[in-house]
Amino acid sequence: MNSRMLGKTGLSVSEIGFGAWGLGGSLWGPISDGESRAVLRNAFEHGITFVDTALAYGDGTSEKRVGDAVREFGGRITVATKIPPMNWEWPASPGIPLDRVFPGYWIEKCVRESLKNLGVGTLDLIQLHVYDPGWLADPEFLAPLERLKASGEIRFMGISINDHEPDTALDLVRSDRIDSVQVIFNLFDQSPLENLFGACREHDVGVIVRVPLDEGGLSGALNEKTRFDKGDFRHAYFRGNRLGDTVKRAGVLETVSRSEGMSLPEMAVRFCLSPEAVSTVIPGMRKSAHVSLNAGYSGKPKLSPGLLEKLSKHAWERNFYQ
Ligand SMILES: NC(=O)c1ccc[n+]([C@@H]2O[C@H](COP(=O)([O-])OP(=O)(O)OC[C@H]3O[C@@H](n4cnc5c(N)ncnc54)[C@H](OP(=O)(O)O)[C@@H]3O)[C@@H](O)[C@H]2O)c1
Repeated sequence: MNSRMLGKTGLSVSEIGFGAWGLGGSLWGPISDGESRAVLRNAFEHGITFVDTALAYGDGTSEKRVGDAVREFGGRITVATKIPPMNWEWPASPGIPLDRVFPGYWIEKCVRESLKNLGVGTLDLIQLHVYDPGWLADPEFLAPLERLKASGEIRFMGISINDHEPDTALDLVRSDRIDSVQVIFNLFDQSPLENLFGACREHDVGVIVRVPLDEGGLSGALNEKTRFDKGDFRHAYFRGNRLGDTVKRAGVLETVSRSEGMSLPEMAVRFCLSPEAVSTVIPGMRKSAHVSLNAGYSGKPKLSPGLLEKLSKHAWERNFYQ
């Protein structure tokens, strides 16, 4: 497993990280404590040293499971978690005042809850789960996090950028006030290549790539007949024609991947590892077999410039989160 630096934090993290949304046991269907423990242990044994979770994932369930597994494993694992918006709205409505979403008392309350769930005295990396660029001008923005840093309750801080809007974080990245950004980057949404990654390189801000497999759209496992339970978030994500459109495009990409001697998920994950700016790619995983596959994609040669050029033609602008 290759490691990369998380911006200027001094933290070295595995280039394949673990996305722990699915371990919340709610929006991706049920998963037991035992299954979660097994999949996390498999990840740590494969050299994965970075986990992304959030207080909102199953109301602390994902954090608790991650905390338990890290303690049981005993090795050094960097855990990033997130503070949910107080109004519980994803994404942040453009222009919404900061104090309606992240007032200081809410930030402190959530950080203390996450510390308890994870069973630690300090959070390695805390991320705001939504972001609006208007907050940069508010003197209270990040001030509560600075105080928590001073008291030793958090080490580093970052934001999770709203879906498909990488450029909304550019001014913040250039302000040198955060340590990391988390952003959607995959074969369909290649937009962070335009401006965000360059700015992150220039300012040495860590980049956590989320949704590398388009919520399963690039996993090679979906077809027109795939159905999701009503409670599963993908029921809405792939509703109507979306599933068929995705399967069609994924099929074309699979032909490309096969001609290059790899599976579609391998090409999708290795595509995400290509930019120098990327610190870690965090596929969501609930199956140990997926952990083993994804861990195996690390350390392989970078995709060739010719293939990256070919893949740039497969970018697909849409927002299935709406
Ligand atoms: N707003 C935010 O901050 C935000 C939003 C979304 C996600 N995230 C973070 O990003 C992480 C990743 O995103 P995601 O989980 O939503 O979507 P994703 O990583 O694009 O896709 C996850 C899906 O891919 C499957 N999969 C994983 N590896 C595979 C492989 N090698 N071959 C075939 N299928 C594979 C998983 O299956 P199994 O689960 O069955 O193993 C799961 O169904 C999340 O877990 C979360 O930590 C953050």
